[in-house]
Amino acid sequence: MIAELEALWRGRHSVRGFKPDPVPRETLTKIFAAAQAAPSWCNIQPWRVAVTEPPITQRLAEATVAAAKGGFPSPAIPFPLDYPPPYKQHRVNCGAALYKEMGIAREDKMGRYDAFLRNYAFFDAPHMAVVACDKRLGPYAYVDVGIWLGYVLTACEALGVATCPMAAIAAYPEPLRKELPIAETDVILFGLALGYADDAVPANRTRTTRDSVEANVTFCS
Ligand SMILES: Cc1cc2nc3c(=O)[nH]c(=O)nc-3n(C[C@H](O)[C@H](O)[C@H](O)COP(=O)(O)O)c2cc1C
Repeated sequence: MIAELEALWRGRHSVRGFKPDPVPRETLTKIFAAAQAAPSWCNIQPWRVAVTEPPITQRLAEATVAAAKGGFPSPAIPFPLDYPPPYKQHRVNCGAALYKEMGIAREDKMGRYDAFLRNYAFFDAPHMAVVACDKRLGPYAYVDVGIWLGYVLTACEALGVATCPMAAIAAYPEPLRKELPIAETDVILFGLALGYADDAVPANRTRTTRDSVEANVTFCS
């Protein structure tokens, strides 16, 4: 069982180029219904999720691209300003792996900007799940939502649905709030692009690495 589960986890990777075909509502329901099993502090189940389907997804993507081109980022939860070691190196490696596959050179500012904007086009995904949480609950509820995300990603992988979790969209919340039922008391944490991978998109060849367990886990006896 653990071998199958690990194979599923290691087989998953973020997808940044989708086919236009929507995921059937039945499959989407299956995924989110399975992820309802996620644990949370006092079982509060704080994830609040708006899942778009065509044609709303495309309309929303156009609005977020316009917001990203024209406005300043204003995420409700501040993005990190600096990444101390060892996080910085991981971040650099992950960006380098992506840009290498996309054929974007380090000094190619325009290429990088276009790649940045692809986030706001949701990488052409037919679905965007905007994930929010009641800000009155505080950081532990955000931990709960992170666990839930892990469940969703696993369920998607099991059903052949490609994903890209996206904090980027939280930086431009206005179009999302305008179009979707997001409560005043909720903060947008991240989005999740969902669909079927377009294997012809070079970015989808990107693979990231993981440290060995000793880097993250210390057994204390
Ligand atoms: C909470 C969260 C936010 C993320 N935000 C973005 C994003 O805005 N844009 C993006 O291209 N990838 C985003 N990612 C994907 C990560 O870059 C990716 O998970 C990481 O590099 C590991 O690669 P893998 O998912 O292919 O294993 C995000 C992932 C998580 C979990």
